[in-house]
Amino acid sequence: MQFTSASLAPYNTFGLTQTAEQLVLLTEREQLPHLWQAAQGMPLLVMGEGSNVLFTAPFTGLVLVNRLKGITVTEAEDAWVLKVEGGENWHQLVCWSLAQGMPGLENLALIPGTVGASPIQNIGAYGVELAQFCQQVESFDWHSGETHVWSAADCAFGYRDSVFKRGARHHLILSVTLRLPKVWQPVLGYGPLAELGEQATALQVCDRVCATRQAKLPDPAVLGNAGSFFKNPTVVTAQAEALKLAWPTLPVFATTPGRSKLAAGWLIDKAGLKGARVGGAGVHTEQALVLVNHGGATSDDVLRLAALVRERVEQLFGVRLEPEVRMMNGEGETHLDEALACLS
Ligand code: EPU
Repeated sequence: MQFTSASLAPYNTFGLTQTAEQLVLLTEREQLPHLWQAAQGMPLLVMGEGSNVLFTAPFTGLVLVNRLKGITVTEAEDAWVLKVEGGENWHQLVCWSLAQGMPGLENLALIPGTVGASPIQNIGAYGVELAQFCQQVESFDWHSGETHVWSAADCAFGYRDSVFKRGARHHLILSVTLRLPKVWQPVLGYGPLAELGEQATALQVCDRVCATRQAKLPDPAVLGNAGSFFKNPTVVTAQAEALKLAWPTLPVFATTPGRSKLAAGWLIDKAGLKGARVGGAGVHTEQALVLVNHGGATSDDVLRLAALVRERVEQLFGVRLEPEVRMMNGEGETHLDEALACLS
Protein backbone atom coordinates (compact mmCIF):
# COMPACT_ATOMS: atom_id res chain seq x y z
CA MET A 1 0.00 0.00 0.00
CA GLN A 2 1.28 3.44 -0.97
CA PHE A 3 0.83 6.01 1.80
CA THR A 4 1.24 9.75 1.36
CA SER A 5 2.50 12.19 3.98
CA ALA A 6 0.45 15.33 4.49
CA SER A 7 -0.20 18.54 6.33
CA LEU A 8 -2.69 18.19 9.17
CA ALA A 9 -3.75 21.85 8.90
CA PRO A 10 -6.99 21.03 6.98
CA TYR A 11 -7.76 18.27 9.49
CA ASN A 12 -7.88 20.23 12.76
CA THR A 13 -10.29 23.05 13.53
CA PHE A 14 -7.61 24.86 15.58
CA GLY A 15 -5.96 25.42 12.19
CA LEU A 16 -2.53 24.50 13.61
CA THR A 17 0.21 23.58 11.18
CA GLN A 18 1.47 20.08 11.87
CA THR A 19 2.29 17.10 9.66
CA ALA A 20 1.54 13.39 9.57
CA GLU A 21 4.03 10.96 8.13
CA GLN A 22 1.18 9.14 6.41
CA LEU A 23 -2.44 10.07 5.86
CA VAL A 24 -5.26 8.13 4.22
CA LEU A 25 -8.91 9.08 3.68
CA LEU A 26 -11.12 6.13 4.57
CA THR A 27 -14.11 6.25 2.22
CA GLU A 28 -15.00 2.54 1.94
CA ARG A 29 -15.05 -0.14 4.61
CA GLU A 30 -13.37 -2.44 2.07
CA GLN A 31 -10.13 -0.43 2.49
CA LEU A 32 -9.78 -1.53 6.10
CA PRO A 33 -8.34 -5.08 5.93
CA HIS A 34 -5.60 -3.97 3.55
CA LEU A 35 -4.81 -0.82 5.54
CA TRP A 36 -4.77 -2.79 8.76
CA GLN A 37 -2.20 -5.23 7.41
CA ALA A 38 -0.04 -2.57 5.77
CA ALA A 39 0.04 -0.36 8.88
CA GLN A 40 0.96 -3.06 11.41
CA GLY A 41 3.36 -1.72 14.04
CA MET A 42 2.81 1.94 13.13
CA PRO A 43 1.24 4.47 15.49
CA LEU A 44 -2.36 5.02 14.38
CA LEU A 45 -4.53 8.08 14.79
CA VAL A 46 -8.15 8.02 13.65
CA MET A 47 -9.58 11.43 12.84
CA GLY A 48 -13.02 12.78 12.07
CA GLU A 49 -12.97 16.52 11.44
CA GLY A 50 -10.33 17.23 14.09
CA SER A 51 -12.64 19.43 16.13
CA ASN A 52 -11.46 18.30 19.57
CA VAL A 53 -7.75 17.76 19.04
CA LEU A 54 -4.47 19.61 19.60
CA PHE A 55 -1.45 18.24 17.73
CA THR A 56 1.63 18.91 19.84
CA ALA A 57 4.21 17.38 17.46
CA PRO A 58 4.47 15.94 13.93
CA PHE A 59 2.66 12.58 13.90
CA THR A 60 5.07 9.76 13.09
CA GLY A 61 2.51 7.14 12.03
CA LEU A 62 -0.69 6.74 10.03
CA VAL A 63 -3.52 9.23 10.30
CA LEU A 64 -6.73 7.66 9.06
CA VAL A 65 -9.45 10.20 8.29
CA ASN A 66 -12.90 8.65 8.63
CA ARG A 67 -15.02 9.67 5.63
CA LEU A 68 -17.42 6.69 5.64
CA LYS A 69 -20.86 7.94 4.53
CA GLY A 70 -24.43 6.69 4.68
CA ILE A 71 -27.60 6.73 6.78
CA THR A 72 -30.05 3.82 7.06
CA VAL A 73 -33.40 4.38 8.74
CA THR A 74 -35.56 1.67 10.27
CA GLU A 75 -39.00 2.41 11.69
CA ALA A 76 -39.85 0.71 14.98
CA GLU A 77 -43.29 1.03 16.56
CA ASP A 78 -42.19 3.73 19.01
CA ALA A 79 -38.99 5.11 17.49
CA TRP A 80 -36.90 5.92 14.45
CA VAL A 81 -33.67 3.98 14.39
CA LEU A 82 -30.87 5.62 12.40
CA LYS A 83 -27.68 3.72 11.58
CA VAL A 84 -25.21 6.42 10.60
CA GLU A 85 -21.74 5.89 9.17
CA GLY A 86 -18.90 7.41 11.19
CA GLY A 87 -17.72 9.93 8.58
CA GLU A 88 -21.05 11.76 8.32
CA ASN A 89 -21.00 15.34 9.60
CA TRP A 90 -22.82 15.62 12.94
CA HIS A 91 -24.66 18.91 12.33
CA GLN A 92 -25.82 17.80 8.88
CA LEU A 93 -27.26 14.68 10.51
CA VAL A 94 -29.13 16.83 13.04
CA CYS A 95 -30.61 18.99 10.23
CA TRP A 96 -31.41 15.97 8.07
CA SER A 97 -33.20 14.11 10.89
CA LEU A 98 -35.30 17.20 11.70
CA ALA A 99 -36.20 17.63 8.01
CA GLN A 100 -37.37 14.00 7.97
CA GLY A 101 -39.71 14.73 10.90
CA MET A 102 -37.58 12.83 13.40
CA PRO A 103 -36.97 15.19 16.33
CA GLY A 104 -34.63 14.57 19.26
CA LEU A 105 -31.18 15.81 18.29
CA GLU A 106 -32.07 19.54 18.07
CA ASN A 107 -30.23 20.56 21.28
CA LEU A 108 -27.05 19.09 19.78
CA ALA A 109 -27.18 21.26 16.64
CA LEU A 110 -23.97 22.93 15.42
CA ILE A 111 -21.65 20.73 17.46
CA PRO A 112 -18.62 20.46 15.18
CA GLY A 113 -17.25 17.09 14.09
CA THR A 114 -18.36 13.75 12.78
CA VAL A 115 -20.87 11.13 13.89
CA GLY A 116 -17.99 8.69 14.47
CA ALA A 117 -16.43 11.07 16.99
CA SER A 118 -19.71 11.72 18.82
CA PRO A 119 -19.65 8.72 21.19
CA ILE A 120 -15.96 9.11 22.05
CA GLN A 121 -16.54 12.09 24.31
CA ASN A 122 -20.31 11.64 24.55
CA ILE A 123 -21.00 15.03 23.00
CA GLY A 124 -23.49 17.17 24.89
CA ALA A 125 -25.03 20.61 24.99
CA TYR A 126 -28.05 22.44 26.46
CA GLY A 127 -29.14 19.61 28.75
CA VAL A 128 -28.89 16.76 26.22
CA GLU A 129 -26.11 14.31 25.46
CA LEU A 130 -25.52 11.62 22.88
CA ALA A 131 -25.84 8.81 25.45
CA GLN A 132 -29.62 9.46 25.61
CA PHE A 133 -30.02 8.33 21.97
CA CYS A 134 -27.12 5.99 21.35
CA GLN A 135 -28.31 2.41 20.95
CA GLN A 136 -25.23 0.80 19.47
CA VAL A 137 -21.73 1.55 18.18
CA GLU A 138 -19.95 -0.54 15.58
CA SER A 139 -16.16 -0.36 15.49
CA PHE A 140 -13.10 -1.82 13.82
CA ASP A 141 -10.66 -3.16 16.41
CA TRP A 142 -7.21 -2.07 15.24
CA HIS A 143 -5.56 -4.73 17.44
CA SER A 144 -7.46 -7.77 16.15
CA GLY A 145 -8.61 -6.46 12.75
CA GLU A 146 -12.19 -7.49 13.57
CA THR A 147 -15.50 -5.67 13.73
CA HIS A 148 -17.02 -5.20 17.18
CA VAL A 149 -20.52 -4.15 18.26
CA TRP A 150 -20.97 -2.20 21.50
CA SER A 151 -24.29 -1.77 23.30
CA ALA A 152 -24.92 1.61 24.96
CA ALA A 153 -24.05 0.02 28.33
CA ASP A 154 -20.74 -1.29 26.91
CA CYS A 155 -19.87 2.26 25.84
CA ALA A 156 -19.77 3.30 29.55
CA PHE A 157 -20.80 6.88 28.79
CA GLY A 158 -20.00 9.62 31.32
CA TYR A 159 -19.57 13.40 31.21
CA ARG A 160 -17.48 13.94 28.04
CA ASP A 161 -16.29 10.36 28.48
CA SER A 162 -16.71 6.80 27.19
CA VAL A 163 -14.83 3.52 26.86
CA PHE A 164 -13.43 4.88 23.55
CA LYS A 165 -11.33 7.38 25.52
CA ARG A 166 -10.02 4.68 27.83
CA GLY A 167 -9.66 0.90 27.23
CA ALA A 168 -11.00 0.98 23.65
CA ARG A 169 -8.85 3.75 22.16
CA HIS A 170 -7.66 1.39 19.43
CA HIS A 171 -11.17 1.11 17.96
CA LEU A 172 -12.14 3.01 14.82
CA ILE A 173 -15.83 3.87 14.92
CA LEU A 174 -17.57 2.60 11.81
CA SER A 175 -21.16 3.53 12.62
CA VAL A 176 -23.39 4.81 15.39
CA THR A 177 -27.00 3.68 15.75
CA LEU A 178 -29.32 6.29 17.25
CA ARG A 179 -32.82 5.65 18.56
CA LEU A 180 -35.11 8.69 18.34
CA PRO A 181 -38.40 8.05 20.22
CA LYS A 182 -41.51 9.11 18.28
CA VAL A 183 -42.98 10.62 21.43
CA TRP A 184 -41.02 13.85 21.67
CA GLN A 185 -40.60 16.31 24.53
CA PRO A 186 -38.51 19.48 24.11
CA VAL A 187 -35.64 19.89 26.58
CA LEU A 188 -35.84 23.55 27.55
CA GLY A 189 -33.98 23.72 30.87
CA TYR A 190 -31.24 26.00 29.53
CA GLY A 191 -32.03 29.74 29.89
CA PRO A 192 -32.37 30.88 26.26
CA LEU A 193 -34.39 27.75 25.39
CA ALA A 194 -36.80 28.14 28.32
CA GLU A 195 -37.96 31.45 26.75
CA LEU A 196 -39.44 29.44 23.86
CA GLY A 197 -42.15 27.88 26.05
CA GLU A 198 -43.47 24.30 26.14
CA GLN A 199 -45.21 24.65 22.73
CA ALA A 200 -41.86 25.04 20.97
CA THR A 201 -41.24 22.84 17.94
CA ALA A 202 -38.00 20.93 17.41
CA LEU A 203 -37.10 23.30 14.57
CA GLN A 204 -37.57 26.32 16.82
CA VAL A 205 -35.36 24.72 19.47
CA CYS A 206 -32.75 23.97 16.80
CA ASP A 207 -32.80 27.60 15.58
CA ARG A 208 -32.42 28.93 19.13
CA VAL A 209 -29.56 26.52 19.87
CA CYS A 210 -27.80 27.64 16.68
CA ALA A 211 -28.31 31.33 17.53
CA THR A 212 -27.03 30.80 21.10
CA ARG A 213 -23.96 28.91 19.93
CA GLN A 214 -23.22 31.45 17.21
CA ALA A 215 -23.41 34.29 19.73
CA LYS A 216 -20.95 32.70 22.17
CA LEU A 217 -18.83 30.13 20.39
CA PRO A 218 -16.39 31.13 17.66
CA ASP A 219 -16.90 29.58 14.22
CA PRO A 220 -13.78 27.47 13.54
CA ALA A 221 -13.95 28.51 9.87
CA VAL A 222 -13.36 32.11 11.01
CA LEU A 223 -11.36 31.74 14.24
CA GLY A 224 -9.57 28.41 14.81
CA ASN A 225 -10.63 26.60 17.99
CA ALA A 226 -11.61 23.21 19.36
CA GLY A 227 -14.69 24.14 21.41
CA SER A 228 -14.42 24.02 25.20
CA PHE A 229 -10.74 23.61 25.94
CA PHE A 230 -11.31 22.50 29.55
CA LYS A 231 -13.95 20.32 31.20
CA ASN A 232 -16.23 21.78 33.81
CA PRO A 233 -14.50 20.58 37.01
CA THR A 234 -16.23 18.39 39.57
CA VAL A 235 -15.33 19.03 43.22
CA VAL A 236 -16.60 17.78 46.59
CA THR A 237 -19.77 19.66 47.54
CA ALA A 238 -18.13 21.14 50.68
CA GLN A 239 -15.54 22.87 48.46
CA ALA A 240 -18.26 24.07 46.07
CA GLU A 241 -20.22 25.52 49.02
CA ALA A 242 -17.14 27.30 50.38
CA LEU A 243 -16.43 28.78 46.95
CA LYS A 244 -20.06 29.85 46.60
CA LEU A 245 -19.83 31.73 49.92
CA ALA A 246 -16.77 33.60 48.69
CA TRP A 247 -18.09 34.05 45.12
CA PRO A 248 -21.93 34.11 45.26
CA THR A 249 -22.38 34.30 41.46
CA LEU A 250 -20.35 31.13 40.78
CA PRO A 251 -22.57 28.69 38.80
CA VAL A 252 -22.66 25.36 40.70
CA PHE A 253 -24.54 22.25 39.47
CA ALA A 254 -25.28 19.16 41.56
CA THR A 255 -24.00 15.92 40.00
CA THR A 256 -23.66 12.71 41.99
CA PRO A 257 -24.31 12.84 45.77
CA GLY A 258 -21.49 14.71 47.52
CA ARG A 259 -20.05 16.14 44.28
CA SER A 260 -20.76 19.40 42.44
CA LYS A 261 -19.79 20.70 39.04
CA LEU A 262 -18.46 24.24 38.56
CA ALA A 263 -18.56 26.35 35.38
CA ALA A 264 -14.95 26.46 34.18
CA GLY A 265 -15.79 29.34 31.81
CA TRP A 266 -16.91 31.44 34.79
CA LEU A 267 -13.73 30.63 36.77
CA ILE A 268 -11.49 31.62 33.83
CA ASP A 269 -13.54 34.73 33.20
CA LYS A 270 -13.39 35.80 36.89
CA ALA A 271 -9.64 35.19 36.90
CA GLY A 272 -9.51 38.06 34.39
CA LEU A 273 -8.30 35.91 31.54
CA LYS A 274 -10.80 36.75 28.79
CA GLY A 275 -8.76 38.02 25.87
CA ALA A 276 -5.42 36.88 27.40
CA ARG A 277 -2.87 35.93 24.73
CA VAL A 278 0.29 33.89 24.32
CA GLY A 279 1.73 34.31 20.83
CA GLY A 280 -1.05 33.68 18.35
CA ALA A 281 -3.26 31.86 20.88
CA GLY A 282 -5.89 33.59 22.97
CA VAL A 283 -8.75 33.10 25.44
CA HIS A 284 -11.97 33.81 23.54
CA THR A 285 -13.54 37.11 24.51
CA GLU A 286 -17.16 35.84 24.50
CA GLN A 287 -16.71 32.39 26.12
CA ALA A 288 -13.62 32.03 28.28
CA LEU A 289 -13.69 28.23 28.12
CA VAL A 290 -12.62 28.35 24.47
CA LEU A 291 -9.02 28.94 23.40
CA VAL A 292 -8.65 30.34 19.90
CA ASN A 293 -6.06 30.72 17.16
CA HIS A 294 -5.87 34.41 16.22
CA GLY A 295 -3.66 33.45 13.28
CA GLY A 296 -0.30 31.76 13.17
CA ALA A 297 -0.62 30.17 16.62
CA THR A 298 1.66 27.22 17.25
CA SER A 299 0.77 24.29 19.47
CA ASP A 300 3.39 25.63 21.92
CA ASP A 301 1.44 28.91 22.15
CA VAL A 302 -1.77 27.00 22.91
CA LEU A 303 -0.05 24.79 25.50
CA ARG A 304 1.56 27.78 27.25
CA LEU A 305 -1.77 29.61 27.30
CA ALA A 306 -3.52 26.52 28.70
CA ALA A 307 -0.86 26.29 31.42
CA LEU A 308 -1.33 29.98 32.29
CA VAL A 309 -5.12 29.55 32.53
CA ARG A 310 -4.80 26.48 34.71
CA GLU A 311 -2.26 28.12 37.00
CA ARG A 312 -4.27 31.34 37.53
CA VAL A 313 -7.52 29.46 38.19
CA GLU A 314 -5.80 27.16 40.64
CA GLN A 315 -4.17 30.09 42.48
CA LEU A 316 -7.44 31.98 42.82
CA PHE A 317 -9.96 29.20 43.43
CA GLY A 318 -7.91 26.12 44.40
CA VAL A 319 -9.53 24.20 41.52
CA ARG A 320 -7.43 22.36 38.94
CA LEU A 321 -8.82 22.38 35.41
CA GLU A 322 -8.41 19.36 33.17
CA PRO A 323 -8.37 19.72 29.38
CA GLU A 324 -11.35 18.47 27.43
CA VAL A 325 -9.47 18.73 24.12
CA ARG A 326 -7.40 15.64 23.33
CA MET A 327 -3.69 16.15 22.81
CA MET A 328 -1.67 14.11 20.35
CA ASN A 329 2.12 13.96 20.22
CA GLY A 330 4.23 12.17 17.61
CA GLU A 331 3.08 8.68 18.62
CA GLY A 332 -0.39 9.07 20.07
CA GLU A 333 -2.36 10.56 22.93
CA THR A 334 -0.59 12.65 25.52
CA HIS A 335 -1.74 15.01 28.28
CA LEU A 336 -1.12 18.62 29.20
CA ASP A 337 1.66 18.06 31.77
CA GLU A 338 3.55 15.70 29.49
CA ALA A 339 3.17 18.05 26.51
CA LEU A 340 4.37 21.01 28.62
CA ALA A 341 7.38 19.03 29.83
CA CYS A 342 8.39 18.54 26.18
CA LEU A 343 8.42 22.29 25.41
CA SER A 344 11.84 23.80 24.85
N1 EPU B 1 -19.62 31.84 31.97
C1 EPU B 1 -19.06 33.05 32.31
N2 EPU B 1 -18.05 33.53 31.52
C2 EPU B 1 -17.60 32.88 30.42
C3 EPU B 1 -18.18 31.63 30.07
C4 EPU B 1 -19.18 31.13 30.87
O1 EPU B 1 -19.44 33.68 33.29
O2 EPU B 1 -16.68 33.38 29.77
C5 EPU B 1 -20.73 31.31 32.79
C6 EPU B 1 -22.04 31.40 32.00
O3 EPU B 1 -22.68 32.64 32.17
C7 EPU B 1 -22.85 30.27 32.60
C8 EPU B 1 -21.78 29.25 32.95
O4 EPU B 1 -20.53 29.94 33.03
O5 EPU B 1 -23.48 30.69 33.78
C9 EPU B 1 -21.70 28.11 31.97
O6 EPU B 1 -21.42 28.62 30.66
P1 EPU B 1 -22.16 28.08 29.34
O7 EPU B 1 -23.61 27.97 29.59
O8 EPU B 1 -21.69 28.88 28.19
O9 EPU B 1 -21.67 26.59 29.20
P2 EPU B 1 -20.29 25.87 29.57
O10 EPU B 1 -20.46 25.11 30.84
O11 EPU B 1 -19.18 26.87 29.52
C10 EPU B 1 -20.90 23.64 28.37
C11 EPU B 1 -20.20 22.72 27.40
C12 EPU B 1 -20.36 23.23 25.97
C13 EPU B 1 -21.85 23.35 25.65
C14 EPU B 1 -22.50 24.30 26.68
C15 EPU B 1 -24.00 24.40 26.51
C16 EPU B 1 -18.38 21.64 28.60
C17 EPU B 1 -16.90 21.58 28.84
N3 EPU B 1 -18.80 22.59 27.76
O12 EPU B 1 -20.17 24.87 28.33
O13 EPU B 1 -19.78 22.25 25.10
O14 EPU B 1 -22.06 23.82 24.34
O15 EPU B 1 -22.25 23.80 28.02
O16 EPU B 1 -24.61 23.23 26.98
O17 EPU B 1 -19.11 20.82 29.15
C18 EPU B 1 -17.76 21.58 24.03
O18 EPU B 1 -17.84 20.53 24.68
O19 EPU B 1 -16.80 21.80 23.22
C19 EPU B 1 -18.77 22.61 24.23
C20 EPU B 1 -18.72 23.79 23.62
